[in-house]
Amino acid sequence: MNKIYGVIGDPIAHSMSPDIHNDAFEKENIKAIYHHFHVKPESLPDAIKGMKALGVSGFNITIPHKTPVIPLLDEVDDLARAIGAVNTVFNEKGRFIGYNTDGIGFYRSLCDEISGDIKAKKTLVIGAGGAARAIYFTLVKEGVKQVDIANRTKERAAHLVSDCPYDKESKALTIDEAEQSLSHYDLIIQTTSCGMSPKLDHSPMRLDQLKAGAFVSDIIYNPLQTQFLREAKEKGAETLNGLGMFVHQAAYAFEIWTGIKPDTSRMTDIVLNKLGGNTC
Ligand code: ATR
Repeated sequence: MNKIYGVIGDPIAHSMSPDIHNDAFEKENIKAIYHHFHVKPESLPDAIKGMKALGVSGFNITIPHKTPVIPLLDEVDDLARAIGAVNTVFNEKGRFIGYNTDGIGFYRSLCDEISGDIKAKKTLVIGAGGAARAIYFTLVKEGVKQVDIANRTKERAAHLVSDCPYDKESKALTIDEAEQSLSHYDLIIQTTSCGMSPKLDHSPMRLDQLKAGAFVSDIIYNPLQTQFLREAKEKGAETLNGLGMFVHQAAYAFEIWTGIKPDTSRMTDIVLNKLGGNTC
C-alpha cells in the first residue's frame, strides 16, 4: 500500500513540494504519494486529527500553521520548540513529532557554497521575523557565536536575541547602525521579504561599507537574483540565493521521514524548471 505524505497550508495551490517529494519517492523506489491539502486556520485541529486517523506517514506545514500546530502534536523537538515553529511532522508509530528544517536547510545550503570555517564568520542577519528566527537559532546552535541581528524595528531584533536559548555573542541593531558597521561582517544573511516579487527594486539595506571578500546571502528565490544580491555581486561579494534553502529544508524533511538523503541537485532542477520564466 502506498504511504501518504503531504503539505498543509493556506494558500497552498502553488506549493512546489509535491513535485520534488513525489519525484524523490519515485527515484528511491518508495511506494508513497505526497499531496497538497488546503487547510483553513479554523480547520487545523480537525485536519491534524484526520491525518492521524488516516495514518498519514508525515507532512510539511506552511503558512499560516507553523506555530498554531505545535499544541496539536505529541512531541516537538528542542530546536523547533525554541524557534516556535514546526514545518515537518513525522508519524512515529502513531505519535506526531514536530521538527523545523528551515534553519538547517539554510545552514546546509550555506555549507555547500561557503569556504572557510563558518563558525568563525562574523555574521549579520537582516530581519527579525519567522525566517530570521529559524536561521539565527540554527546558526548559533551549530556553533556560529557572533551573529548580530539588524531590523527595521530594532525592538523585534532585541527580542530575538533575548529569546535565543543557545550560547551567543549577539547584538541588535537598527538598519542604519548595521549599514555603518557593515565592514565588520564576513557573512550577511537577508531574511526579509524586501526584494521579493513583485517588489523587485526594493533592498533592505545599503551595502556601501561591505567588507571585501564578504559572503552575501538572500533567502528569496523568486527572483533568483534580488536587487540586494545584484548590488552585493557588483561590489565583488560571493552570493547565494534562497533556492538552496528551499531544496535543503525539503531534503531534510525527506530524510526524517525515510532515513534516505535524497538527490538535492535533482530537486533543484525540478524547482528551476517549475519556476521557468516566472522568476520575476
Ligand atoms: P517571515 O516569517 O517571512 O520572516 P515576518 O515575521 O512577517 O515574516 O517578518 C518579516 C521581516 O521582514 C521583519 O523583520 C520585517 O521588519 P519589521 O519587524 O520591522 O516589520 C521585515 N520587513 C518586511 N518588509 C520590510 C521592508 N520593506 N524593509 C525592511 N524590513 C522589512
